[in-house]
Amino acid sequence: MFYDEISEYYDQMIPIEKRIANLKKNLSPILKEYDIKTALDVGSATGATCTALAELGVETVGIELSSKMIKIARDHASQAGLKIRFKRADMTENQPGFEKRFDAILVVANTISHLLDKKSLNKAIANFKKWLTPGGILVIQLLNYHRIFKDRKRIVKIYNNEEKIFIRFYDFGKDLINFNLLTVENEPGVCDYELSSVPLRGWKANEIIDVIKRKGLVSIKKRGNFKGAKFDPANSNDLILTSRKK
Ligand SMILES: C[S@@+](CC[C@H](N)C(=O)[O-])C[C@H]1O[C@@H](n2cnc3c(N)ncnc32)[C@H](O)[C@@H]1O
Repeated sequence: MFYDEISEYYDQMIPIEKRIANLKKNLSPILKEYDIKTALDVGSATGATCTALAELGVETVGIELSSKMIKIARDHASQAGLKIRFKRADMTENQPGFEKRFDAILVVANTISHLLDKKSLNKAIANFKKWLTPGGILVIQLLNYHRIFKDRKRIVKIYNNEEKIFIRFYDFGKDLINFNLLTVENEPGVCDYELSSVPLRGWKANEIIDVIKRKGLVSIKKRGNFKGAKFDPANSNDLILTSRKK
């Protein structure tokens, strides 16, 4: 499984402290505006979003498919002295193993793109509605695939530290994109590498909005970043969709 394979590099590739600081800055206005006391982070990986939420005083549960990611997230939380519950669960399954309802559900950092077809997207959004308290808010943040499919740039990012070089690149299909992570030893004369790949669905804004509407969530807003910029299909980096349960 892709995220089990890359779990040991994940926090090196995208430094976790920087992500937590950004998430706190991005999420705190939403938490204040909607008076969020409890939250579910879907696809919690190594726990950056859960940590940001917990540090902002929100009671947080993270659900995640990769057992290795969950172990790392639990270690981070215990080192930071934060009480966060991490559960191995699939956002498309009916029985997540918790009874709790949440004031906010966050599906950030492109996690929704791991759902590859409309059936899975429908199931997940139906679950999010079920898991929200009345008045609760759903926040979905993904990459802007309108721009990504238009530009068709194959190299996403190259990053190195003292030990490794990380090369992220795409293979383009019609609706799906293969996301690849090539990890190479950063040592003269050593060419050892590992390649891990995962298919992603390049969801467009209206495809997700249609499902959100059909499931009966309301007050749907589309933005280009967490500061509230207008979503520009040709140029925005991200697509952020917020909606509420009546
Ligand atoms: C891009 S990462 C999320 C990053 C994370 N939210 C953060 O802030 O660092 C996507 C995560 O979603 C998880 N995932 C993928 N499909 C899932 C599903 N159906 N249910 C729950 N988690 C899923 C993956 O294992 C992966 O850890």
